[in-house]
Amino acid sequence: QKPAVVVTLTGAAGQIGYATLFRIASGAMLGANTRIRLNLLEIPQALGALEGTAMELTDCSFDLLDGVNIFSDPRRAFEGCDVALLVGAKPRSKGMERADLLEANGAIFSEQGRALNEGASSDVRVTVVGNPANTNALITASHAPDIPLERFTALTRLDHNRAVAQLAKATGVHPRDIEGVAIWGNHSASQFPSLEHATIAGRAALEVLAEKNLGEQWLSKEFIPRVANRGAEIIQVRGGSSVGSAANAALEHVNLWNTSNSVKGPQITSMAVPSTGEYGVEEGLICSFPVTCGGGEYRVQEGLKLSEAGRRRFEKSVEELRQEKAAVESLGLLGNR
Ligand code: NAI
Repeated sequence: QKPAVVVTLTGAAGQIGYATLFRIASGAMLGANTRIRLNLLEIPQALGALEGTAMELTDCSFDLLDGVNIFSDPRRAFEGCDVALLVGAKPRSKGMERADLLEANGAIFSEQGRALNEGASSDVRVTVVGNPANTNALITASHAPDIPLERFTALTRLDHNRAVAQLAKATGVHPRDIEGVAIWGNHSASQFPSLEHATIAGRAALEVLAEKNLGEQWLSKEFIPRVANRGAEIIQVRGGSSVGSAANAALEHVNLWNTSNSVKGPQITSMAVPSTGEYGVEEGLICSFPVTCGGGEYRVQEGLKLSEAGRRRFEKSVEELRQEKAAVESLGLLGNR
């Protein structure tokens, strides 16, 4: 039998951590035939709560779970790591400036990048969830020069799922009939959720929308802002940030990327990945594109034509990524990849 896959989850005592762990251990992320060993990383103050979560995991007697270890030292948590989910991050507190937030997170992700570089297994795959996710992934990768750059990704699958849901709602179809939606750019309010190549049961989504008199006006005034600001909307209605949907998206991201028989089958998804110059995006920026993936690999879909409005929206978001990179660079947070 194959050895257990080591999954390292950071921020494991947090909300998304709690919503993710039991599903990982039940096989929802890596499939029903993959045994798992969980390495959970937290800050020292949260180790007590995490101990309790580890007890609960034990109490599930999961068939696939070979062991749970908890750590506050990243070097130990990432030893032998095959799949890394970097969820733990410093939230923005009252009065905190943007630079302070970047700096606090920069310290966390630099250290974790170095720990991955030192101890992770040679086939490691990294997914950053903690915000600002794209730039945190950039920082992590910059401190892990021995790991191929393409192994570092950030989560935009939640935005992707939100866009599918809004399109389904507007057209009265089920999400399963929708294909080809994509998030372009940054995981932030500047993102471009694109329906330009989406289809509904094989028909161009824009055509279906036009029949319902939903055109550019609806896209720019309703659809795009709704998707891009959905996190804030959830906070307002729920009284707390997205947790279950974020955990679900993180599992789907890893599942689609790393298994060959992903639960949902081959499909186009959105993933923030290091640009190799696709669509004119500066090399190395961690930018969301439409990708196809499976078996631990992904490929950015190339050759898609964006409308002029789409291109402008995408470029605005890429400009924000460039500015975030310049900010962390000037704070000295990037390593020497
Ligand atoms: P949370 O505050 O409940 O949990 C975060 C956990 O990280 C805490 O338990 C904290 O102790 C831990 N942590 C902080 N520094 C750490 C470090 N250096 N090492 C290990 N653990 C550390 O937050 P929640 O709701 O679980 O969200 C986690 C992150 O995910 C946030 O940054 C949030 O903005 C982000 N997020 C990203 C989404 C995306 O689509 N990319 C969607 C939703 C949330």
